[in-house]
Amino acid sequence: MHTVLQEIELTFRYPVHFTAGVFDLSNPLLRDVIAASGDLPARIVFVVDRGVVRAHRGLTSVIQRYCSQYPETMMLAGRVLVVPGGEKAKNHPGHVKDVQRAINNGGLCRHSYVAAVGGGAVLDVAGYAAATAHRGIRLIRIPTTVLAQDDSGVGVKNSVNAFGKKNYIGTFAPPFAVINDSQFLLTLSDRDWRSGLSEAVKAALIKDASFFADLERHASRLSGRDLTAMEETVRRCATLHCAHIASSGDPFELGSSRPLDFGHWAAHKLEQLTNFRLRHGEAVAIGIALDSTYSLLSGSLPEADWWRIIRLLQELGLAVYAPELRLHLHAPEHPRCVLRGLTEFREHLGGRLTIMLLRAIGKPYEEHEIDAGTMIRSIDILKQFSRRPELPEYPVDREKEHIHAKSERVAG
Ligand SMILES: NC(=O)c1ccc[n+]([C@@H]2O[C@H](COP(=O)([O-])OP(=O)(O)OC[C@H]3O[C@@H](n4cnc5c(N)ncnc54)[C@H](O)[C@@H]3O)[C@@H](O)[C@H]2O)c1
Ligand SMILES: [Zn+2]
Repeated sequence: MHTVLQEIELTFRYPVHFTAGVFDLSNPLLRDVIAASGDLPARIVFVVDRGVVRAHRGLTSVIQRYCSQYPETMMLAGRVLVVPGGEKAKNHPGHVKDVQRAINNGGLCRHSYVAAVGGGAVLDVAGYAAATAHRGIRLIRIPTTVLAQDDSGVGVKNSVNAFGKKNYIGTFAPPFAVINDSQFLLTLSDRDWRSGLSEAVKAALIKDASFFADLERHASRLSGRDLTAMEETVRRCATLHCAHIASSGDPFELGSSRPLDFGHWAAHKLEQLTNFRLRHGEAVAIGIALDSTYSLLSGSLPEADWWRIIRLLQELGLAVYAPELRLHLHAPEHPRCVLRGLTEFREHLGGRLTIMLLRAIGKPYEEHEIDAGTMIRSIDILKQFSRRPELPEYPVDREKEHIHAKSERVAG
């Protein structure tokens, strides 16, 4: 018998830039990003989110003008490809094919570029297509939503949906560079402005209690669409996200632990149960509320911390409950029961079920067994917040009594 033990070490390095007006003719950032790598002029295919094109009339011509200003650096290969925005881009396999076709027709090689401009869904589609064409074309992400700028766009993954499941098909593929342009955020709907804030709450809860306190302090500015407050929040969240990927020791998620997925087992299932009526960020807010309430009822999270979490989500305009949480709760393995999301989460990760819970704000821990009864009681508690958008003051004695009564029932 003979065995060769193969060992390969690889380092990935990519910049995450923060700018305003990336396609302004006076802004050389994108040119510089490409020029730094040599092999010039480089071919580049642009994939742009239709929602962004609608909100920024003339964007495709602006991109063409930008490229033609730097003929020594970049060569636009074909027309700017516009793809539908939102989850439908990930649900229909044809859009991945469209991007791969544009890469093929444009004669791109592994030293060429795909530049993806859009929300998290379009970045995922373009990222998957780029990662699989020629086994990997360089990807420049230009995220245009809060969620994509503070979370999905700065990470190392891409995916599309299949078999009715979120993110079933995809790859780990670090981008070549990320350019976060705050000007894109100005045209977001209120919904998309808010929904990405749930990822900032998540990052604060698992990584940085002082960031959480700052989110509380700036909650009204953030929900009131103050761009300066949002830029700062996006920068801090993206930085925490990147630092985690670089330092966790498991950037490609080979183990079972997924701290960045706090609140996500329920979120992914809820997106599916609501037929994607909920945005990813909206579902994450509910997932955070649910796992925080479970942490409260299982005795690990102090009640004052729990209140702060629920209040912050509400102050940011994020709902903490959806009626789909109650579907088929008597049958936890029913495909349309939220609790089935635990099994699907474990299958997606591989290995042992590992769910992040909280001991305190900024102090997570891993749990491997989730009690269905306690989770159902957590859902019951969150239901109280469904009909009442206004905020209870903390402490509110009646509410507290109610929670205590529920906690005692759980304990009993
Ligand atoms: N790859 C990852 O690691 C990762 C991580 C988290 C989330 N995601 C994925 O990201 C997706 C959610 O992304 P999202 O929250 O950015 O939403 P989204 O991509 O679904 O976009 C939401 C809507 O906003 C529009 N839009 C985008 N930018 C705009 C702008 N500047 N102005 C006006 N409209 C604009 C889009 O056209 C779309 O209609 C989900 O599919 C989720 O699974 C991926
Ligand atoms: Zn997420």
